[in-house]
Amino acid sequence: QEKRMLAGKRVLVTAGGTIERIDPVRYLTNDSSGKMGFAIAEEASRMGAEVTLVTGKTSVPLPPGVKAVRTESALDMMEAVLSRLQDNDIVIKAAAVADYRPAEQAQQKIKKKKSELTLQLVKNPDILKAVGERKTTQFVVGFAAETERVAEHAMDKLKRKNSDLLVANDVSAEGAGFGTDTNIVSFFDQNGLVEALPVLPKAEVARRLLTLIASRMEGGKTA
Ligand code: C5P
Repeated sequence: QEKRMLAGKRVLVTAGGTIERIDPVRYLTNDSSGKMGFAIAEEASRMGAEVTLVTGKTSVPLPPGVKAVRTESALDMMEAVLSRLQDNDIVIKAAAVADYRPAEQAQQKIKKKKSELTLQLVKNPDILKAVGERKTTQFVVGFAAETERVAEHAMDKLKRKNSDLLVANDVSAEGAGFGTDTNIVSFFDQNGLVEALPVLPKAEVARRLLTLIASRMEGGKTA
């Protein structure tokens, strides 16, 4: 029965944007709403999976039926994901992780003094890449939000991060990307394009993705 396709599977989903603190009251973040990751978590739970949702900053309510783990920075999110990696069968990384964080976090609110203030940023670790390096039996899915040459960038990310599947979307297209209720995505595996979907509600994108994952896992990649 399609609805219970993920019965017995443990799924970890990341969603939302990370928050990179500058001082106790200020931070850097991005426009991620968390909607795509939340839709995946909700649908996976409906399909019978035991779902852990590692969430950064989001602007929508938590889906029912999932265990939520709230995180702030990319470093927090990485710890939350890696410490749970071996307890899961499927890892889906829909979060928008900040590429950089402030080199230092001020312990007190930074005072307004000079006419200029320079903020030095350092690179965050790539969580998906770390998962790809450490995975044993897990089926790992990444996301790529692009504005050009979508297929090329998607395949590059898939290979570099050692993912099993990559969901790519052109965030410059109408009806796709951050904050919208619909998305236009394509699925890629190590051999190339699997399927290009039309504009669909994020819940339907989630169902199609999870159905594909379930069928790939049945195909014998993972017990
Ligand atoms: O930012 P980028 O386009 O490389 O993101 C592609 C995938 O890698 C996404 O699934 C995202 O969640 C993940 N990622 C990550 N850690 C980062 C950057 C991206 O897990 N520091």
